[in-house]
Amino acid sequence: MKLFLDTANMEHIRHGVRLGVVAGVTTNPSIVSREGKVDYRKLVQEICSIVPGPVSTEVLGQDARTMVAEAREIAKWAENIVVKIPASLEGVEATSVLAGEGIKVNFTLCFTLNQAVLGAGAGAAFMSLFVGRLDDVGEDGMAVVADIVEYLEYYQLPSQVIAASIRHPQHCLTAAKAGAHIATVPYKVLLQMIQHPLTNIGIERFRDDWRKVMGREELS
Ligand code: E4P
Repeated sequence: MKLFLDTANMEHIRHGVRLGVVAGVTTNPSIVSREGKVDYRKLVQEICSIVPGPVSTEVLGQDARTMVAEAREIAKWAENIVVKIPASLEGVEATSVLAGEGIKVNFTLCFTLNQAVLGAGAGAAFMSLFVGRLDDVGEDGMAVVADIVEYLEYYQLPSQVIAASIRHPQHCLTAAKAGAHIATVPYKVLLQMIQHPLTNIGIERFRDDWRKVMGREELS
């Protein structure tokens, strides 16, 4: 499973890229707004220039014609741009048009297998299933991820499932088990994923044992 960062914060993205494990970035209008009243195009282009993979950014229009026009413009911003289109009926139409033009679409705000069937049929390159928001309303978000993965595999469809709306490391673990191609994680969750108290205790114990016998902190 690949990891994307779900943020528009440059400092966090730079760190993720330095770690060598961030294969892409996803944003949405709420995420971009968290960075203040920015120049949208400039910020997205800056992100695209440092991320070694797809960078998803979203349209605001609600009808197919507006979405297509916005997406065509956004697609010019960088080579690795993916345009996020919401999983509405208008969004299905827009996705079909854009996919036909070779513009990569991330079919977003997906909550059901039926929406994913339409997104994949329209030619979306990625489909973002919002796990956390489904869990919030008492549904099992990861079960839907597993169903979509199974559906795509059964029919040999090329769309990739992004487990989105990830809230904690347990979500990453279950996303991997569900076969998600990608999990897009907030920066905080990326930092949490590496944490285990026994790792920290182990590091300290190795250093202590060495220091006691060798009488120094360094290897040589
Ligand atoms: C996905 O691409 C979305 O940007 C994001 O995961 C939504 O997460 P939220 O439900 O925490 O807002």
